[in-house]
Amino acid sequence: MKYVVVSGGVISGIGKGVLASSTGMLLKTLGLKVTSIKIDPYMNIDAGTMSPLEHGECFVLNDGGETDLDLGNYERYLNVTLTKDHNITTGKIYSHVIARERKGDYLGKTVQIVPHLTNAIQDWIERVSRIPVDDTGLEPDVCIIELGGTVGDIESAPFVEALRQFQFKVGKENFSLIHVSLVPVIHGEQKTKPTQAAIKDLRSLGLVPDMIACRCSEQLNQSTIDKIAMFCHVGSEQVVNVHDVNSTYHVPLLLLEQKMIDYLHNRLQLGDITLNDDDKQRGNDLLSKWKKTTGNFDASMETVKIALVGKYTNLKDSYLSVIKALEHSSMRCRRKLDIMWVESSDLEPETQETDKARFHEAWNKISSADGILVPGGFGTRGTEGMIHAARWARENKIPFLGVCLGLQIATIEFVRDVIGKTEASSTEFVEGLDEENQVVIYMPEIDKATMGGNMRLGLRPTYFQDNSEWSKIRKLYGSPASVEERHRHRYEINPEIVDELEENGLVFVGKDESNKRCEIFELKNHPYYVATQYHPEYTSKVLDPSKPFLGLVAASSGILDDVIDGKYDFHTDSESTDF
Ligand SMILES: *[C@@H]1O[C@H](CO)[C@@H](O)[C@H](O)[C@H]1NC(C)=O
Ligand SMILES: *[C@@H]1O[C@H](CO)[C@@H](O)[C@H](O)[C@H]1NC(C)=O
Ligand SMILES: *[C@@H]1O[C@H](CO)[C@@H](O)[C@H](O)[C@H]1NC(C)=O
Ligand SMILES: *[C@@H]1O[C@H](CO)[C@@H](O)[C@H](O)[C@H]1NC(C)=O
Ligand SMILES: *[C@@H]1O[C@H](CO)[C@@H](O)[C@H](O)[C@H]1NC(C)=O
Repeated sequence: MKYVVVSGGVISGIGKGVLASSTGMLLKTLGLKVTSIKIDPYMNIDAGTMSPLEHGECFVLNDGGETDLDLGNYERYLNVTLTKDHNITTGKIYSHVIARERKGDYLGKTVQIVPHLTNAIQDWIERVSRIPVDDTGLEPDVCIIELGGTVGDIESAPFVEALRQFQFKVGKENFSLIHVSLVPVIHGEQKTKPTQAAIKDLRSLGLVPDMIACRCSEQLNQSTIDKIAMFCHVGSEQVVNVHDVNSTYHVPLLLLEQKMIDYLHNRLQLGDITLNDDDKQRGNDLLSKWKKTTGNFDASMETVKIALVGKYTNLKDSYLSVIKALEHSSMRCRRKLDIMWVESSDLEPETQETDKARFHEAWNKISSADGILVPGGFGTRGTEGMIHAARWARENKIPFLGVCLGLQIATIEFVRDVIGKTEASSTEFVEGLDEENQVVIYMPEIDKATMGGNMRLGLRPTYFQDNSEWSKIRKLYGSPASVEERHRHRYEINPEIVDELEENGLVFVGKDESNKRCEIFELKNHPYYVATQYHPEYTSKVLDPSKPFLGLVAASSGILDDVIDGKYDFHTDSESTDF
């Protein structure tokens, strides 16, 4: 096993995650199997109880682990499936060590940060890095470890010490370190001092950088590179220039141009890993698909406008996976994506009274959109606005996708408007709702009393129903009998009302294994009106866009049939359109 550690200096939030996942992606193009571990120096044990307003989106894994957005980055770039153990936090490590101490595993010795905690970190890394993460089912060859925060913080100190010891444990040719730093441009001059200071800190803690990845708003001058190399005691080929690019999908190619992979190949003696021809072919294919797909991001194209009707629309991070799924889909459809953010409460008549301009602006966006998306969320505020948006899409035959809460919203809208029960709602929104108006109910087997840990979480199967051959969403998936997607919900569609909905054209084409719980609906006689109880965005990949999202973008671009027919897929025989 080879380890590549990505740490950061100067400040956090400069794209360490993108750099780490791009490096992993490039290693994959050599035919290697790559996994990743994220280290977060926080005390929290999982992200499920964190507010999306403060922390960004909560990302759900197959095993139901709730983490923040970074693990999603690795899954999307590396096309792997990670587990909740791939995220190490200070809280997890401490509780692991404390539990062992309680069991008497340390034989009454004094338990200390060094060596007990640092050993626990190293053991965890060694154990988790061996978990197979892709469809080969084999142990990975390389593990990317992203160390969150900045080196030198109090929080990250035990992890830095553990990694310092780890480099000797696994040997020099099995361990390398990429340090991400910032080169600010002040009065037109590229400043290297912060980088010099960051590398000095790193060395004083016993870690030696193999590569210094310099984030900068512009291309680094050769003189800047030479200066960093000289003051940081590295060769100038070890200084990588990571300037701002049009999209984060270009970062792997930027690194490739600078021969980062050649350097790592020598440094980690990757040539010693035996690869068969299939592996190598897979790597080559991956690189050409990546170039082709991400090239679509820049090539001049038509625009597709998607209105995203949500609640935290001024905190866009809380919809990160949704945005990524839309980006993947529009690259596949060769369209430029224009996301129009609509705060759902702005669509409500109350806003018309208090703030006419906001109301009109919001409706302007809805009425000019090519497609409408209502993503997941919690709580009552703004839900009436989402209902208005779903109605607009249904009545005007605008492509629509509802996810989780979006499915519940669109069902309520349908019951109110088509079936005529104007008081219909969800027991989540209305306390003491009459039984006949209960369209969305608390899932019966879930205990309402305890908050947290009572959600239906993680990968679950959805079975397509017998009468769904016509279904567009089923065809998008390739007409399987069932699909597996990730869930995160507490409420569901009331199974009692399904027959009445289906008689009126809203068909639940996918249900769970009990054949009761509604998973996917699709409206007949509409270009694309689909909603899912699960969150398809969590499994969207750069080269494998999530199907419900792909359907939305394709329908909004007017090419749904071609996409279903596979005309936009990769062709194995070399195509002339090389970007
Ligand atoms: C790992 O879990 C912690 C604790 O909830 C969370 O703060 C952190 O963001 C998670 N990291 C990733 C990469 O998911
Ligand atoms: C991604 O992985 C899945 C299996 O996990 C595989 O079927 C698919 O072909 C992979 N996609 C690419 C583009 O390699
Ligand atoms: C590096 O890893 C390989 C394979 O696990 C091992 O055989 C080798 O001894 C390691 N190198 C050192 C210096 O420990
Ligand atoms: C570096 O390049 C910028 C333009 O990108 C230029 O303005 C600046 O003078 C250059 N600095 C040095 C030290 O050459
Ligand atoms: C960035 O996008 C613009 C057009 O949007 C394009 O002209 C330019 O070539 C792109 N830059 C790169 C590095 O791809």
